[in-house]
Amino acid sequence: MAKVRGGGNITGKRILILGGYGNTGRPLAECLLQETDAHVVIAGRSIEKARELAQHLNTKFEGQRVAGLSVDVSDQAGLRAAFSQVDVVVVVASTSAFVKQVATAALEAGIDYLDVQYSAHKMAVLQAMAPRIEAAGCCFITDGGFHPGLPAALVRYVAPCFDVLESARVGSVIKINWSGLDVGQATMVEFVGEFMDFQMLAFRHGRWQRAGLMAMLKPVTMDFGREFGRQYVMPMFLEEMRAIPELVPGIQETGFYVGGFNWFTDWFVSPLVMLGLKLAPRRALRPLARLFRWSLDTFSRLPYGTMLKVEARGQKDGQAKAIDLTLYHPDGYVFTAVPVAATLLQLLDGSARKSGLHLQAHIVEPQRLMRDLARLGIKING
Ligand SMILES: NC(=O)c1ccc[n+]([C@@H]2O[C@H](COP(=O)([O-])OP(=O)(O)OC[C@H]3O[C@@H](n4cnc5c(N)ncnc54)[C@H](OP(=O)(O)O)[C@@H]3O)[C@@H](O)[C@H]2O)c1
Repeated sequence: MAKVRGGGNITGKRILILGGYGNTGRPLAECLLQETDAHVVIAGRSIEKARELAQHLNTKFEGQRVAGLSVDVSDQAGLRAAFSQVDVVVVVASTSAFVKQVATAALEAGIDYLDVQYSAHKMAVLQAMAPRIEAAGCCFITDGGFHPGLPAALVRYVAPCFDVLESARVGSVIKINWSGLDVGQATMVEFVGEFMDFQMLAFRHGRWQRAGLMAMLKPVTMDFGREFGRQYVMPMFLEEMRAIPELVPGIQETGFYVGGFNWFTDWFVSPLVMLGLKLAPRRALRPLARLFRWSLDTFSRLPYGTMLKVEARGQKDGQAKAIDLTLYHPDGYVFTAVPVAATLLQLLDGSARKSGLHLQAHIVEPQRLMRDLARLGIKING
């Protein structure tokens, strides 16, 4: 039996990281090699990039445990062949449009699955496949990563500290030096396409409510402290937050709130993107993705860093109680990869593994998740 540093035992599992040499894939591979004795396959369309990273990781970590593989998600036979050699596929590729192909190949191979994409299309496809996933005895985890992935887990983490948790607002600030970052064209198109899924919903006064124009004119602010201070944030509906009112009886206010990119992207480019996608979703997508990328490159400024905060308010022992908890990492991609690795630790040792379709924020055991996040370099205060 091999030891997992986060606790628990695994036998030497084989993990395929689809998008393994991308911005999220690289820190994820490193984290998994450091924390487990798993064998890792780095996959993407470029065999050169996959092999180059595999070689680098084999010199850094002991055991010659990394291999590079060329996989294109549009090639069903290639997916099947790749998945037949592993126990779990982690999708950190901008391939949500191909979710059906990827999920079907994973089901046919009888392996587990975890993805980090934010996409209404992906969610609908996986939900339709949920009975087949359950019947096959596979564990599929969707909406992994930072956000989606952590906000509802944070609410689950703080809830037991209260007799009654009345309000739990989760917010994020993501400031990235985009001009120094090599992001794939497909990733940018997928990212801008996600604007079509953006719903400004928050749970207020006991029901889900859509924020109107007022949310743009008079946005909510959250104090993130550190170098960020008070930032304006917008409600952004995440599937994982939908169940919070059921999971936390008595809660009156909850929701996820996302911070802005920079003044130009937020006030000029984002509204234009939303309008353009409404008018001509197909034709406008690529030019708008280029415009969006240009505005991020041109207007993003220091300070850089990524933060998640939960502001929880309620009652404990007849007294009002407040918890403000912040999670920080200077690198947004490491902050995406670490929760995925922490979730995989719970999946691989079987402690969180259940057949069926699950959201990362719901399937993880939150106390261990937080311990592992801290151990893996996320700064937690509160
Ligand atoms: N949940 C969260 O917190 C969170 C945070 C950040 C990012 N994300 C999501 O994570 C995903 C990756 O983002 P990223 O910034 O890491 O992207 P990235 O740096 O551009 O990397 C994307 C990877 O996907 C691969 N890929 C693209 N198309 C492919 C295809 N058809 N077949 C096989 N591989 C393909 C790319 O390689 P090739 O192009 O060479 O094939 C590359 O390795 C995106 O969906 C993004 O929205 C989630």
